Amino acid sequence: MDSSRVIAIDGPAGSGKSTLARRLAAALGWRFLDTGVLYRAMAAVALERGLASAPPEDLVRFALGLDLDVKTGSDQSRVTVGGRDVTGLLRTPEVSTLASRFASLAEARESVKGIQRRLGSSGRLVTEGRDQGTAIFPEARLKFFLTAAPEARAERRYRELLARGRDDSPEAILAEIKARDRQDQERETDPLKEAPDAFRVDSTALSEDEVLSLMLARAREVFGKEVGA
Ligand code: DC
Repeated sequence: MDSSRVIAIDGPAGSGKSTLARRLAAALGWRFLDTGVLYRAMAAVALERGLASAPPEDLVRFALGLDLDVKTGSDQSRVTVGGRDVTGLLRTPEVSTLASRFASLAEARESVKGIQRRLGSSGRLVTEGRDQGTAIFPEARLKFFLTAAPEARAERRYRELLARGRDDSPEAILAEIKARDRQDQERETDPLKEAPDAFRVDSTALSEDEVLSLMLARAREVFGKEVGA
Protein backbone atom coordinates (compact mmCIF):
# COMPACT_ATOMS: atom_id res chain seq x y z
CA MET A 1 0.00 0.00 0.00
CA ASP A 2 1.35 3.44 -0.86
CA SER A 3 0.35 5.42 2.16
CA SER A 4 3.68 7.21 2.20
CA ARG A 5 1.92 10.45 1.41
CA VAL A 6 -0.52 10.26 4.31
CA ILE A 7 -0.52 12.64 7.26
CA ALA A 8 -2.10 10.92 10.26
CA ILE A 9 -3.57 13.08 13.02
CA ASP A 10 -4.80 11.62 16.29
CA GLY A 11 -5.97 13.11 19.56
CA PRO A 12 -8.83 13.30 22.04
CA ALA A 13 -12.30 14.77 21.42
CA GLY A 14 -12.30 18.53 20.97
CA SER A 15 -8.55 18.87 20.40
CA GLY A 16 -9.20 20.65 17.10
CA LYS A 17 -8.19 17.70 14.92
CA SER A 18 -11.00 18.07 12.39
CA THR A 19 -10.57 21.78 11.78
CA LEU A 20 -6.81 21.54 11.65
CA ALA A 21 -6.79 18.46 9.43
CA ARG A 22 -9.18 20.25 7.08
CA ARG A 23 -7.08 23.42 6.99
CA LEU A 24 -3.81 21.50 6.61
CA ALA A 25 -5.27 19.51 3.70
CA ALA A 26 -6.50 22.72 2.05
CA ALA A 27 -3.09 24.38 2.46
CA LEU A 28 -1.33 21.39 0.89
CA GLY A 29 -3.97 20.74 -1.78
CA TRP A 30 -4.52 17.23 -0.35
CA ARG A 31 -7.77 15.41 0.51
CA PHE A 32 -9.15 15.38 4.02
CA LEU A 33 -10.69 12.44 5.90
CA ASP A 34 -12.55 12.60 9.22
CA THR A 35 -12.69 8.94 10.32
CA GLY A 36 -15.00 9.68 13.27
CA VAL A 37 -17.87 9.93 10.78
CA LEU A 38 -17.73 6.15 10.36
CA TYR A 39 -18.57 5.48 14.03
CA ARG A 40 -20.97 8.42 14.10
CA ALA A 41 -22.87 7.05 11.09
CA MET A 42 -23.24 3.69 12.86
CA ALA A 43 -24.59 5.53 15.91
CA ALA A 44 -26.96 7.85 14.03
CA VAL A 45 -28.66 4.99 12.22
CA ALA A 46 -28.69 2.82 15.36
CA LEU A 47 -30.47 5.63 17.24
CA GLU A 48 -33.13 5.74 14.51
CA ARG A 49 -33.64 2.02 15.04
CA GLY A 50 -34.04 2.44 18.81
CA LEU A 51 -30.73 0.76 19.69
CA ALA A 52 -29.48 3.48 22.09
CA SER A 53 -29.20 1.04 25.00
CA ALA A 54 -28.75 -2.20 23.08
CA PRO A 55 -26.18 -4.72 24.39
CA PRO A 56 -22.77 -4.91 22.64
CA GLU A 57 -23.59 -8.08 20.71
CA ASP A 58 -26.61 -6.38 19.11
CA LEU A 59 -24.51 -3.34 18.22
CA VAL A 60 -21.88 -5.57 16.62
CA ARG A 61 -24.47 -7.44 14.56
CA PHE A 62 -26.00 -4.13 13.52
CA ALA A 63 -22.62 -2.59 12.54
CA LEU A 64 -21.60 -5.64 10.50
CA GLY A 65 -24.84 -5.41 8.53
CA LEU A 66 -24.32 -1.80 7.49
CA ASP A 67 -23.22 -0.82 4.01
CA LEU A 68 -21.04 2.18 4.89
CA ASP A 69 -19.10 4.35 2.51
CA VAL A 70 -17.17 7.61 2.85
CA LYS A 71 -16.17 10.23 0.34
CA THR A 72 -13.24 12.49 1.10
CA GLY A 73 -13.59 16.12 0.18
CA SER A 74 -11.66 19.32 0.64
CA ASP A 75 -14.11 20.47 3.28
CA GLN A 76 -16.13 17.58 4.66
CA SER A 77 -16.14 13.81 4.70
CA ARG A 78 -19.54 12.63 3.50
CA VAL A 79 -20.79 9.30 4.72
CA THR A 80 -23.51 7.10 3.29
CA VAL A 81 -25.30 4.11 4.74
CA GLY A 82 -26.88 1.90 2.10
CA GLY A 83 -26.47 4.78 -0.33
CA ARG A 84 -28.29 7.28 1.92
CA ASP A 85 -26.23 10.36 2.90
CA VAL A 86 -26.39 10.66 6.71
CA THR A 87 -23.71 13.36 7.09
CA GLY A 88 -26.26 15.85 8.45
CA LEU A 89 -27.25 13.61 11.38
CA LEU A 90 -23.89 13.15 13.02
CA ARG A 91 -23.25 16.11 15.34
CA THR A 92 -25.37 15.62 18.43
CA PRO A 93 -24.23 14.61 21.94
CA GLU A 94 -26.44 11.47 21.70
CA VAL A 95 -24.64 10.39 18.53
CA SER A 96 -21.25 11.19 20.15
CA THR A 97 -21.98 8.96 23.11
CA LEU A 98 -23.21 5.99 21.09
CA ALA A 99 -20.41 6.45 18.51
CA SER A 100 -17.90 5.99 21.31
CA ARG A 101 -19.58 2.69 22.24
CA PHE A 102 -19.38 1.46 18.63
CA ALA A 103 -15.75 2.57 18.53
CA SER A 104 -15.01 0.36 21.53
CA LEU A 105 -16.17 -2.79 19.71
CA ALA A 106 -13.33 -4.65 17.95
CA GLU A 107 -15.60 -6.08 15.24
CA ALA A 108 -17.08 -2.66 14.45
CA ARG A 109 -13.58 -1.19 14.14
CA GLU A 110 -12.41 -4.05 11.94
CA SER A 111 -15.41 -3.54 9.64
CA VAL A 112 -14.25 0.00 8.71
CA LYS A 113 -10.49 -0.60 8.43
CA GLY A 114 -10.63 -1.43 4.75
CA ILE A 115 -12.51 1.76 3.84
CA GLN A 116 -9.86 3.89 5.56
CA ARG A 117 -6.88 2.06 4.05
CA ARG A 118 -8.39 2.25 0.58
CA LEU A 119 -8.77 6.02 0.89
CA GLY A 120 -5.14 6.30 2.03
CA SER A 121 -3.76 4.08 -0.69
CA SER A 122 -3.98 6.79 -3.34
CA GLY A 123 -1.90 9.14 -1.17
CA ARG A 124 -2.13 12.91 -0.62
CA LEU A 125 -4.48 12.40 2.30
CA VAL A 126 -4.71 14.16 5.66
CA THR A 127 -6.66 11.83 7.92
CA GLU A 128 -7.78 12.30 11.50
CA GLY A 129 -9.13 10.04 14.23
CA ARG A 130 -7.85 8.12 17.24
CA ASP A 131 -5.85 5.29 15.65
CA GLN A 132 -4.64 6.71 12.37
CA GLY A 133 -0.94 6.81 13.24
CA THR A 134 -1.02 3.65 15.35
CA ALA A 135 -3.34 1.07 13.75
CA ILE A 136 -4.52 2.27 10.33
CA PHE A 137 -1.44 4.01 8.86
CA PRO A 138 1.49 2.99 11.11
CA GLU A 139 3.82 3.63 8.14
CA ALA A 140 2.61 7.23 7.55
CA ARG A 141 5.62 9.52 7.12
CA LEU A 142 4.12 12.27 9.23
CA LYS A 143 2.01 11.83 12.37
CA PHE A 144 0.64 14.39 14.73
CA PHE A 145 -0.81 13.92 18.20
CA LEU A 146 -2.98 16.93 19.00
CA THR A 147 -4.10 17.50 22.52
CA ALA A 148 -5.37 20.18 24.92
CA ALA A 149 -6.63 20.36 28.51
CA PRO A 150 -10.17 18.90 28.89
CA GLU A 151 -11.55 22.30 29.98
CA ALA A 152 -10.21 23.98 26.84
CA ARG A 153 -11.67 21.23 24.66
CA ALA A 154 -15.07 21.45 26.39
CA GLU A 155 -15.15 25.22 25.88
CA ARG A 156 -14.49 24.78 22.14
CA ARG A 157 -17.17 22.10 21.83
CA TYR A 158 -19.66 24.34 23.68
CA ARG A 159 -19.08 27.18 21.21
CA GLU A 160 -19.31 24.79 18.25
CA LEU A 161 -22.69 23.45 19.45
CA LEU A 162 -23.94 26.95 20.20
CA ALA A 163 -23.14 27.98 16.63
CA ARG A 164 -25.35 25.09 15.52
CA GLY A 165 -28.22 26.35 17.66
CA ARG A 166 -27.81 24.01 20.67
CA ASP A 167 -27.33 25.52 24.10
CA ASP A 168 -26.11 22.51 26.12
CA SER A 169 -24.73 23.12 29.60
CA PRO A 170 -20.94 23.61 29.65
CA GLU A 171 -20.68 21.30 32.68
CA ALA A 172 -22.49 18.52 30.82
CA ILE A 173 -20.17 18.94 27.84
CA LEU A 174 -17.07 18.74 30.05
CA ALA A 175 -18.44 15.61 31.72
CA GLU A 176 -19.17 14.07 28.31
CA ILE A 177 -15.65 14.89 27.05
CA LYS A 178 -14.06 13.30 30.12
CA ALA A 179 -16.26 10.21 29.80
CA ARG A 180 -15.34 9.87 26.12
CA ASP A 181 -11.62 10.33 26.88
CA ARG A 182 -11.88 7.48 29.34
CA GLN A 183 -13.82 5.26 26.94
CA ASP A 184 -11.46 6.03 24.02
CA GLN A 185 -8.29 5.50 26.07
CA GLU A 186 -9.35 2.46 28.04
CA ARG A 187 -10.87 0.31 25.31
CA GLU A 188 -8.96 -2.82 24.41
CA THR A 189 -8.90 -2.48 20.63
CA ASP A 190 -6.81 0.32 19.14
CA PRO A 191 -7.22 2.71 22.08
CA LEU A 192 -6.35 6.36 21.69
CA LYS A 193 -2.65 6.61 22.32
CA GLU A 194 0.24 8.62 21.06
CA ALA A 195 2.35 6.91 18.38
CA PRO A 196 6.01 6.92 19.48
CA ASP A 197 6.99 8.74 16.28
CA ALA A 198 4.17 11.33 16.44
CA PHE A 199 4.83 15.06 16.66
CA ARG A 200 2.93 16.22 19.76
CA VAL A 201 1.12 19.56 19.78
CA ASP A 202 -0.62 20.80 22.93
CA SER A 203 -3.01 23.52 21.81
CA THR A 204 -4.30 24.61 25.25
CA ALA A 205 -2.51 27.94 24.98
CA LEU A 206 -2.18 28.16 21.18
CA SER A 207 -4.53 29.66 18.62
CA GLU A 208 -5.73 27.59 15.70
CA ASP A 209 -3.52 29.62 13.34
CA GLU A 210 -0.48 28.98 15.51
CA VAL A 211 -1.11 25.23 15.53
CA LEU A 212 -1.62 25.25 11.78
CA SER A 213 1.70 27.03 11.20
CA LEU A 214 3.50 24.45 13.31
CA MET A 215 1.89 21.62 11.37
CA LEU A 216 2.54 23.18 7.97
CA ALA A 217 6.19 23.81 8.82
CA ARG A 218 6.55 20.18 9.83
CA ALA A 219 4.80 18.95 6.65
CA ARG A 220 7.15 21.05 4.51
CA GLU A 221 10.14 19.68 6.38
CA VAL A 222 9.04 16.07 5.89
CA PHE A 223 7.61 16.20 2.36
CA GLY A 224 9.75 18.99 0.89
CA LYS A 225 9.22 19.40 -2.84
CA GLU A 226 6.26 16.98 -2.77
CA VAL A 227 4.25 19.75 -1.12
CA GLY A 228 5.87 22.58 -3.02
CA ALA A 229 8.26 23.60 -0.20
O1 DC B 1 -13.70 12.35 16.34
P1 DC B 1 -15.14 12.06 16.64
O2 DC B 1 -15.59 12.70 17.92
O3 DC B 1 -16.04 12.38 15.50
O4 DC B 1 -15.23 10.47 16.87
C1 DC B 1 -16.41 9.83 17.23
C2 DC B 1 -16.09 8.62 18.12
O5 DC B 1 -15.39 7.63 17.37
C3 DC B 1 -15.19 8.96 19.32
O6 DC B 1 -15.68 8.33 20.48
C4 DC B 1 -13.85 8.37 18.98
C5 DC B 1 -14.16 7.32 17.98
N1 DC B 1 -13.14 7.22 16.94
C6 DC B 1 -12.25 6.18 17.02
O7 DC B 1 -12.28 5.40 17.97
N2 DC B 1 -11.32 6.01 16.04
C7 DC B 1 -11.26 6.87 15.02
N3 DC B 1 -10.33 6.69 14.09
C8 DC B 1 -12.16 7.96 14.93
C9 DC B 1 -13.10 8.11 15.93
